[in-house]
Amino acid sequence: MNPNEIKGPYNPNGPKPQPKKRPLELGMEQLAGVKKIIAVASGKGGVGKSTVAVNLAVTLARMGYKVGLADADVYGPSVPKMTGTEGAVPEVEVYDEMGYPLPPDKEITDDCKEIMVPVEKYGVKWMSIGYFARPEQALIWRGPMACNALKQMILQVRWGELDFLLLDLPPGTGDIHISLVHDIPLTGAIIVSTPQAVALSDVEKGVNMFRNPQIDKPIYGIIENMSWFTPAELPDNRYYIFGKDGCKAMAEKYGIELLGQIPLVQSVREGGDEGVPAATTDGPVFSALKSAAAKL
Ligand SMILES: Nc1ncnc2c1ncn2[C@@H]1O[C@H](COP(=O)(O)OP(=O)(O)OP(=O)(O)O)[C@@H](O)[C@H]1O
Ligand SMILES: [Mg+2]
Repeated sequence: MNPNEIKGPYNPNGPKPQPKKRPLELGMEQLAGVKKIIAVASGKGGVGKSTVAVNLAVTLARMGYKVGLADADVYGPSVPKMTGTEGAVPEVEVYDEMGYPLPPDKEITDDCKEIMVPVEKYGVKWMSIGYFARPEQALIWRGPMACNALKQMILQVRWGELDFLLLDLPPGTGDIHISLVHDIPLTGAIIVSTPQAVALSDVEKGVNMFRNPQIDKPIYGIIENMSWFTPAELPDNRYYIFGKDGCKAMAEKYGIELLGQIPLVQSVREGGDEGVPAATTDGPVFSALKSAAAKL
């Protein structure tokens, strides 16, 4: 008999008990079929991130790519409204601890895993926390909860095979952003800004966040939004109300590309409010984003 062999209920050399996997410990399984994950970010709010992200998704879908978009703005989700999918209720699939679909007569326990099925419209798979919260409900979550909720919007979704998964990030460069861009296997980021100096100084923060050595994710480039104003009745006129080529200067300063310029046009705002993104039809938004998309 081996004198080192320990008999009895406790064996220090035996297999260590594995901690139970909690449903919120999200794995990367749902991203297995996704080729590129691109964050759409900005340092500043209201520069048109969501507008650009939604229209870029629609543009990529019109170009024949398989596209999904996760609205990672848990505090102010705008994707349901901008895509006319408000009120949609995503289907939720429940799996048992072995990964098999839970029979309808079985109770959902802590070991079960829920996977959300995205809402499809305009050829894009959309997911947003807005589908689970009432529009008027102020989302006053604290950091860790918000962080978990937005990771669920990305990791607990049946994306399937996608060429592009876009993430519409909330404005800013705070803890939530850092945790997200650190934990999600991003292929790269797009920074959205407007040409005026205040918005540009925030671009700097965005660029620095992705270039932070602990994050170190490539930046595809900047998309300048509201580059000039074009009135509907004078489609060839350009009024540079926020200054000209601000993002071009910024792109040169940081050695990144200016991916495209989107004009300020009333129909873009109307399209956003009506749930019909401007890029669903040919025009300045679709053509600007089509050439930007070719660089992704
Ligand atoms: N190029 C444009 N032309 C006209 N209106 C625009 C344009 N881009 C954005 N808007 C409008 O500006 C408003 C803000 O845009 P949006 O919600 O996309 O910004 P955001 O950066 O995502 O904001 P937040 O920081 O709150 O998430 C919206 O009403 C949108 O329709
Ligand atoms: Mg937004």
